[in-house]
Amino acid sequence: MSSNTIEENQRSCQLKSDDQVWLFGYGSLIYLVDFPYLEAKPASIKGWSRRFWQGSHDHRGTEARPGRVVTLIEDAEAVCGGIAYLVEAPVFEQLDEREKNGYLRFSTAMTFNDDTHATGLIYIASPDNEAWLGEASELEIARQICAAEGASGANSDYLLELAVALRELGLQDQHVFDIEAHIVQMQQP
Ligand code: SIN
Repeated sequence: MSSNTIEENQRSCQLKSDDQVWLFGYGSLIYLVDFPYLEAKPASIKGWSRRFWQGSHDHRGTEARPGRVVTLIEDAEAVCGGIAYLVEAPVFEQLDEREKNGYLRFSTAMTFNDDTHATGLIYIASPDNEAWLGEASELEIARQICAAEGASGANSDYLLELAVALRELGLQDQHVFDIEAHIVQMQQP
């Protein structure tokens, strides 16, 4: 079942049209940048781990065969790296549309790589959203990803492009890299 979070995001998180806001991206927002921004820089947030536990019925799967995409799970010891983008408030209309399958906007503290800090917004899909799939082994996740495709393309491309982007940023993410290793093996002729 797909959910649509557009209205909830626009009601609960109102911005003034001339606001400039930091957005922290940790998944496809790292490598698929189809929105305008004023500035982008590597950043991290504390207390969250990236997990392929969110279902995708639109971009990387279908209602019948949902794909898996990343969300963040609370994890006190963890630090999650990504990219922070400074965007103009109206850009969130486009972002809300893109992230509508279960993601809500939250406010977060972020640390840039030069150790300066800012507060920004982040899209997180929580366990209570209708598209949630939840925990599974990296092998099961890889199998499901290999079988899924949606309007934005193959689910495996989402995973593989994210893994490349994380490496380019110098980030280590065992969960993502373990799924990548399974997928590379499954895709061998
Ligand atoms: C993000 O990238 O920050 C959110 C999840 C996604 O769109 O892949």
